Amino acid sequence: MSLSVVILAAGQGTRMKSSTPKVLHEISGKPMLFHTIDVAGQISDDITIVLAHQAQRVENSIKEHYENISFHYQDAERFPGTGGALRGVVCKHEYVLILNGDMPLLSVESLQRLIGENIDIHMSVIEMENPSGYGRVVIEGLNVKEIIEEKDCSAGQKGIKTVNAGIYALKNELLERYIPALNNNNAQAEYYLTDIIKMAVDEGRSVQPIWVLEEEFKGVNSKLDLAHAEEIMQQRIRAHWMRSGVTMRLPQTIYIDSRAVFEGECILENGVTILGSARIVASHIKSHSVIEEAHIENSDIGPMARIRPQSALMDTHIGNFVEVKKSRLTGVKAGHLSYLGDAEIGEGTNIGAGTITCNYDGKAKYQTVIGKNVFIGSDTQLVAPVTIPDNVLIAAGTTVTKDPSSGDLVMSRTPQKSIAGFFGKFFGKQD
Ligand code: UD1
Ligand code: MG
Repeated sequence: MSLSVVILAAGQGTRMKSSTPKVLHEISGKPMLFHTIDVAGQISDDITIVLAHQAQRVENSIKEHYENISFHYQDAERFPGTGGALRGVVCKHEYVLILNGDMPLLSVESLQRLIGENIDIHMSVIEMENPSGYGRVVIEGLNVKEIIEEKDCSAGQKGIKTVNAGIYALKNELLERYIPALNNNNAQAEYYLTDIIKMAVDEGRSVQPIWVLEEEFKGVNSKLDLAHAEEIMQQRIRAHWMRSGVTMRLPQTIYIDSRAVFEGECILENGVTILGSARIVASHIKSHSVIEEAHIENSDIGPMARIRPQSALMDTHIGNFVEVKKSRLTGVKAGHLSYLGDAEIGEGTNIGAGTITCNYDGKAKYQTVIGKNVFIGSDTQLVAPVTIPDNVLIAAGTTVTKDPSSGDLVMSRTPQKSIAGFFGKFFGKQD
């Protein structure tokens, strides 16, 4: 079906109490507006986003991630309100779906229920125990007669518990005629999109209510709503990956970015955090580890390890308190307490506890390259740039500043010496 989508995102979002535009607040690693754009992209090739408040900033961040989106700047001074938002918006197709940019939990399946052939207007409604803040919907028989905004409601109308969820599917032809005809004769002196319902009814058009779930259609207006939406989104993401075979221990303690992917049999223990577009294949991530935008395959990580962006770990064992950044490790064991940054490490290599790649000299970052079957003793510093060829043994406590040759033992220790009887003399007591 040929359908255009308009996403309203011009509102100021004052209740967020933030200098960041409301729709750019993130849920599961993505601005909430991007969740709506992703859903819209699955049902339409003609998406227009209406902006006003910090419009340029919102437009720029959308353009970094999406192509083929149209932008419409609302004249919010002269035409405030949801009806004003649609003034001048041009849609390509016969039908239009109107979405809100602050509803990140909408699903394609639910929106599909609103769209239909030969409809005039379908509008989303919710039954609410506490309807306060919403437009009340007057329904007679099977059809909607009118929407009354709360501030314009009589005492009796305030008792109506069927509310307008704010999402509509309708004929473009109706929108084109009704929007310019809206007025602002109401309590808020705004141009209400909701007034088009009465216009349609007066013309004998059919306006059908579609009951939807509050959980999906509730807008995010405050930091409290944001946290609540995040919880719901996380439940969905975890359920999706568990269905596709990921084992999770205490799933409610695990955080997974919406862009992360899992393949093969993976295990995530409690407290694990997966950020960015991490790709995890047939691996075991142990408790309280943080994986950020890394590729991990056939490996086990943690507990309490941190794998940072641009890292690729294959057939590797990483133990507790190991941090890896922008490094490629293949067939490596790094069991404890190490920092491996800007490094490439080959198969069969063992990284002793306390090994540090000293990658930064205060001005620039340098590479550490470690070959195959290298044994690095505990408490070794590798001062980059440095290359350790295959089959090298580095003694514990060594500071490596020069490239050794294959087959070497490398050691930079002060020779040990003992002074007999010193303890007794120093502390003035004998055993
Ligand atoms: C609107 C509905 C109300 C419904 C509620 C559901 C109207 C008049 N009322 O009320 O019946 O119950 O949504 O959440 O439509 N926006 C603009 N430009 C503006 C004003 C708003 O683009 O000038 C955008 C906002 O960014 C938001 C959406 O429109 O995405 C809804 O705006 P909001 O201010 O939340 O409308 P409500 O007053 O809550
Ligand atoms: Mg609202």
